[in-house]
Amino acid sequence: MGPIRRILFVCTGNICRSPLAEAVLRTKLAERGADGRYEIDSAGTVTDHLGERSDPRMRRTAARRGVRIDHRARRVTSADMERFDLVVGMDDQHLNALRSLADGASVQVRKLGEFGDGDRAPDVPDPWYGGMAGFERVYEMVDRSCEALAQWLEGRS
Ligand code: 4NP
Repeated sequence: MGPIRRILFVCTGNICRSPLAEAVLRTKLAERGADGRYEIDSAGTVTDHLGERSDPRMRRTAARRGVRIDHRARRVTSADMERFDLVVGMDDQHLNALRSLADGASVQVRKLGEFGDGDRAPDVPDPWYGGMAGFERVYEMVDRSCEALAQWLEGRS
């Protein structure tokens, strides 16, 4: 398998979980001086929020930790599965959608919870309909997994 240089995070609406993961991983790689080596992006499986900025509750939760989310929602495409080396979903529904979209492409499709939690691989739950506690919980899960993912990438580079 070749080196991993292009990483795409995928959730449902592309306004909460995956833009957060994109921003958190980018921040962690920058802290390691490694951000220039990677291209990181995010996308969603549905079209409901195309072109929108991320949810203000998610942006606020991240900003409190010094992480800036700057992304416009877009939908994941089959071309993404050719272009990216690693595509990371938040739950099993995303993985199913991504695996059918990949259709033989050599991309690695993984679940974010695998990083740090191995086979247990918990879902990162959709925070959209809930209160602020859900956004905090999503942040903690994404932060923990992205830390493990950054270490994993470092070990492969
Ligand atoms: P996300 O959250 O997948 O983390 O961006 C959601 C945002 C919007 C919807 C679902 C999940 N929605 O159904 O519109």
